[in-house]
Amino acid sequence: MDFLNNKVILAPMAGITEKVFRSICKEQGADVVISEMVSAEGLFYGAKATMDLMKFSEYERPIGIQLFGSDPDHLARAAAFVQKHVRPDFIDLNSGCPVPKVVKKNGGSALLQNASLFQKILKAMKKELSIPLTVKIRSGWHKHEWVDTEFARIAQDCGAAALTVHPRSQTMGFSGHSFWERIAEVKKTVSIPVIGNGDINTPSDALKMIEETGCDSVMIGRGAYGNPWIFSQIRSAFLGKSISPVSAQEKLDMALRHLLEFSREYGEQCALKEMKRHIAWYIKGMPGASQYRDHIFRAQSLEILSNYISILREDASDSRRLLED
Ligand SMILES: Cc1cc2nc3c(=O)[nH]c(=O)nc-3n(C[C@H](O)[C@H](O)[C@H](O)COP(=O)(O)O)c2cc1C
Repeated sequence: MDFLNNKVILAPMAGITEKVFRSICKEQGADVVISEMVSAEGLFYGAKATMDLMKFSEYERPIGIQLFGSDPDHLARAAAFVQKHVRPDFIDLNSGCPVPKVVKKNGGSALLQNASLFQKILKAMKKELSIPLTVKIRSGWHKHEWVDTEFARIAQDCGAAALTVHPRSQTMGFSGHSFWERIAEVKKTVSIPVIGNGDINTPSDALKMIEETGCDSVMIGRGAYGNPWIFSQIRSAFLGKSISPVSAQEKLDMALRHLLEFSREYGEQCALKEMKRHIAWYIKGMPGASQYRDHIFRAQSLEILSNYISILREDASDSRRLLED
């Protein structure tokens, strides 16, 4: 398990990177995938929903399970439990989540305000683990009051195998742009692999991040929405190969497959609730997409949803035929 040499990694995204989407990204070239964040407290109390978040298939390996929390003992016990019973390839500590529900309990990016707690947590987790422990941080709590290099050093000293940097502050949420120069600073500070993250939406963004920051690998989050092909495209770009565009038909075929696999995994009601946004992402930019988007969000059954995808697919093949004639 290494994080060097331009690996292309799927970011952990709560509510998005469940098993089906991760498997699609893996198939489309993601070198490494990571679970949605999992609460150490939830694990501690044996919550079923928390256990379900950690299900993965062997096909997805190498896979990391990401834990969040703020109690060193609970996080260490959670890490030991996950290592033994879930058997991922590595465990990642979330030190970047900005959402109030998490930071109110001192987890996620709130750890960036407490270096000694961060250190205690890492030491406690590391002691329990024989698989690698990695860490994902934001660059600080307040914009321009960066603590990333300090926290990177602590992570390295505590034995972290790699560090992901999303160079925004907690207060920025997802607004503005990420400060890639912070990734460069972190890379200069530590010798463990540094994974750059934030606002990579195209293969050229990935090339640019590697060039500007010297980071060892890249992590893609929102850029994979409706676009799992971004992983193989970035891999091609790294190898200097040309990048083949993805046709509307391929996108719609994938949308349909994603819908069916999701429904098989989680049931029809869950698929109806969760898959609408994925379908909207797949069709983004296609002719008539905004009109279909409204229909899709109003759809009351999976059959209706898949019919809309089929209609769009027919439209796409008709316009392709017209272009070819
Ligand atoms: C919907 C959503 C959920 C996220 N959930 C997590 C999470 O569970 N753990 C985590 O470390 N980061 C989480 N993130 C942050 C992403 O992993 C990533 O750091 C961020 O989106 C920036 O990368 P991007 O510009 O490629 O999207 C989430 C982001 C989004 C948009």
